[in-house]
Amino acid sequence: MYYPDELVEEVRMKNDIVDVVSGYVKIQKKGSSYFGLCPFHNEKSPSFSVSPSRQMYYCFGCGAGGNVFTFVMEYENYSFPEAIKHLAQKAGVSLPEAEYTEEMKKKESKRSRLLEVNKEAAKYFFYQLRSDKGKDGYGYLRKRQLSDETIKKFGLGFANVSSDDLVKYLKSKGYEDKLIQEAGLASFDEKYGMHDKFWNRVMFPIQDINHRVIGFGGRVMGDAKPKYLNSPETMVFDKSRNLYGLNYARTSRKNNIILCEGYMDVIAMHQAGFTQAVASLGTAFTEGQASLLKRYTEEVILAYDSDGAGTTAALRAIGILKEAGLTGKVLNLEPYKDPDEFIKNKGTEAFEERIKAAENSFFFEIRMLQRDYDLNDPESKTKFYREIAKKLCGFSEEVERDNYIQAVADKYAIGVQNLKKLVLSYAAQTGFAKPAERPKSGIQKKNTPEESRKKSQRLLLTWLVEEPPLYHKIKKYISTDDFTEDLYKKVAERLFADLEQNTMNPAAIISLFSDEEEQREAASVFNTKLNELTTRGEQEKAFHDIVLAVKRNSYEYFSQQLGSDVSALNQVIAGKKALEELSKTHISLD
Ligand code: GTP
Ligand code: MN
Repeated sequence: MYYPDELVEEVRMKNDIVDVVSGYVKIQKKGSSYFGLCPFHNEKSPSFSVSPSRQMYYCFGCGAGGNVFTFVMEYENYSFPEAIKHLAQKAGVSLPEAEYTEEMKKKESKRSRLLEVNKEAAKYFFYQLRSDKGKDGYGYLRKRQLSDETIKKFGLGFANVSSDDLVKYLKSKGYEDKLIQEAGLASFDEKYGMHDKFWNRVMFPIQDINHRVIGFGGRVMGDAKPKYLNSPETMVFDKSRNLYGLNYARTSRKNNIILCEGYMDVIAMHQAGFTQAVASLGTAFTEGQASLLKRYTEEVILAYDSDGAGTTAALRAIGILKEAGLTGKVLNLEPYKDPDEFIKNKGTEAFEERIKAAENSFFFEIRMLQRDYDLNDPESKTKFYREIAKKLCGFSEEVERDNYIQAVADKYAIGVQNLKKLVLSYAAQTGFAKPAERPKSGIQKKNTPEESRKKSQRLLLTWLVEEPPLYHKIKKYISTDDFTEDLYKKVAERLFADLEQNTMNPAAIISLFSDEEEQREAASVFNTKLNELTTRGEQEKAFHDIVLAVKRNSYEYFSQQLGSDVSALNQVIAGKKALEELSKTHISLD
């Protein structure tokens, strides 16, 4: 870690979690906690809670949880040091300049290193575009009518024809082969050694919402295949949770976001002043991207290609937007293929007009549906109406449904009452749409010995967090050495020391970890919901079982180490004694 623990703790304490979270999410007080819609998954009823006393948040829907650092890390896609810097600034705590010794660099999280190597590669491509070797690339982008300003804004670059220059450059900057490969910038081959993934392509750095380069798209300058080559997914590049252009679109201050398919479309729209444009990353639009958009807007305008594939993709996206509670509209680009071509041919004002005229996504769906039916044939027409009625059942709210029934009836000249009856008869069979099912708790893993060891250790820690006085009843049997999982051991050491003083500070314990995965796992200790056991007797038995399981698992674990590890012997002897005693002892919860 870069900063001393005390400083990290000071920053944490000066950033009340309720204040910080309220800056991003609408939360309301209910009892001793605050509740709101989870920003980390799609939901319509609030299962996201923030506890002022614990200084933690937790979502009962998706299992996201942690302290104020984890929250900004997840929300802003920050690394741990970045989150600390951000919150220190907010609270007016001054941090010492982080000095990067060699030692620290090694310890630096993998994430930061991947971001760093990507940034360096982006700088290299950017520089190449302006060099002699990049003439073709620069010429290509200019031919596509991009201004110098636009090229700069999007950090466009060029990967030149030689196939190992990037690798050489990055190595000269001190990045090791393994990292370069893991970032997806190069691969290793017996015959050719390390070679660049991208060559002879114009390069589009893909940035996250905080302008950090997380991956690349590279386009050929002619008709070769594949047209685009994209970075593979890495620890920092999750294609289902990022959108191209969102780093600018999020602050565009328009009342919608335009979602399209291509990088070039995003860039062309931004250049024309439509700075609210974003695109998915060469893959289909996902739920994760929808919840990301939900943070910034209520309305998404689809500007997908006007061909068959684009229409199919738009219909899919409409469903996802709807699930996320976003209003969807569809832009008509006819007779052009995509936003880039439209703007080039018709200009900005015409595009603005099309935005204003964007079609309600439900009507778009119905209109697309209509293509499969012959409305001059009574039988086909009837089938079409039935399909409409089925779709109308998708509106769970009565007022909304009635409004749509009215509108569709008008548009297709169907009697309102007839359509209503048809809808009701379908609803009688299948019911109206229900709110989306919540995903089950994030903590559901397989039953390996390691998992069961982990599980018992986690449950014991959770129980102690829930009922701190129990610590004094079990400390005779359980020591921190019984926590054979490194992460839980670290948590236990700190928690036991706290409990010894009759205090507890879960949020501080999470800050002991700088790795995001570990933080999440540590947070789960404080959020695992214990089974709701009704009687005190049942609870006592369950607690006893957990204590016994932890002890037995540790006993077995250390027994296995006998022979290779002398110190394990003491653990085993003491463990055996404690186990025997424990199995005869009743631990009262009162
Ligand atoms: P231009 O043809 O340069 O105008 O680009 P475009 O953005 O309009 O591309 P297109 O509509 O063909 O594709 C939309 C998006 O799909 C691109 O921006 C890429 O993200 C992705 N894509 C297109 N072609 C390929 C390909 O060959 N491979 C991969 N992996 N992705 C592609
Ligand atoms: Mn295009």
